[in-house]
Amino acid sequence: MAIFLDSGKLDEVKKYMAWGVIRGVTTNPTIFLKDGVTGGVEGMKARAREIADIIYPYPLSLEVTSNYRQQMIEQAQEFAAIADNINIKITVHGPKGETENLEVVHELETVHDVRVNCTAMMSAQQCLLAALAGASYVSLFGGRVNNMGYDSRQEINRLRNVLDIQGLEAQIIIGSTREVLNIFEWLEAGAHIVTVTPNLIQGMLVHPYTKETVQMFLDDAKKCEQC
Ligand code: E4P
Repeated sequence: MAIFLDSGKLDEVKKYMAWGVIRGVTTNPTIFLKDGVTGGVEGMKARAREIADIIYPYPLSLEVTSNYRQQMIEQAQEFAAIADNINIKITVHGPKGETENLEVVHELETVHDVRVNCTAMMSAQQCLLAALAGASYVSLFGGRVNNMGYDSRQEINRLRNVLDIQGLEAQIIIGSTREVLNIFEWLEAGAHIVTVTPNLIQGMLVHPYTKETVQMFLDDAKKCEQC
């Protein structure tokens, strides 16, 4: 599936869908806040509905806004009902290390038929537990892993090997992308998907030497037209 867009902005989603280069979108409450979503939970649902519609049938990840067990279960079902290409982000554990989140992941996937993206993970071993719990997607935050002084490529490589050996079907999403280089290095390390901010897609594409070459073609084309 290669590249997802990490954004909550409609114009950005439309732009990269029109290019044909993205295969899904990821969001989180921080992205919605930064991207100007207002109107509380209803505002987030409305933005999610619009994004899901633009990218259909590609998947949109939408995160719950609570870490209380029952609220996560109820809100996940409410969010998943918005569109059938929405999967629900559940963090791997709570802000104080509360551990009922994996139970929520398992219940959503096996009882409520909700696809889950288990998120905010910083290690291969967290991702393995999330995959065993039944998460459809496991999100490792590669940039944050690197920021802690670990090599995210090693975590991705180990994770992919173990998922393949064990026959686990979870798709590995690597987020927290900081550099253009991350996209290739993480896909090469075994990620199924890298979720990328718009500035990095722009950085992948535009090259100074390509600009110069294209200008040469255009200048010579003008001369050719008159020769
Ligand atoms: C991934 O799904 C997350 O939305 C995102 O990439 C987190 O990135 P950050 O570390 O820049 O917050």
